[in-house]
Amino acid sequence: LATKEVSLAGVEIGQAIKVMWQGKPVFIRRLTDAEIARAEALSGQLKDDASRNDNVPDMPADAAGRLVGPDGQAQDFVMVLGVCTHLGCVPLGTEPGENKGDYGGWFCPCHGSHYDPFGRIIKGPAPENLAVPPLQFVTETTVRLG
Ligand code: FES
Repeated sequence: LATKEVSLAGVEIGQAIKVMWQGKPVFIRRLTDAEIARAEALSGQLKDDASRNDNVPDMPADAAGRLVGPDGQAQDFVMVLGVCTHLGCVPLGTEPGENKGDYGGWFCPCHGSHYDPFGRIIKGPAPENLAVPPLQFVTETTVRLG
């Protein structure tokens, strides 16, 4: 896999960025406590219970299975491929002011899939949670994708 290092130094809590990796968008969002609480309150409504996280493939789709962060620090980043698991459109919700859908995560306008702040599918035709790519924090503010 081709790797890419991404600096997270400017990503404050509540902010999001989009980077390209292997020709695909990767959404990186640093969640607020309120966003984490909102997602955790949705745990009974998941369509897909699997982490869909290459780094912890056998985990459930809970905070430990979906969130990432540097060792010993808050695990408050969600990093997902920006590829809807229905038919591959790029969901909205990363840029300021974009439609985040009914659950405050991402919204795919192609056929109306709503993802939560952990990138988990809650409503709509998408069958799986947004995929977490292979990644590793190489410093407290640098993540390597791939
Ligand atoms: Fe996203 Fe169909 S491609 S809902």
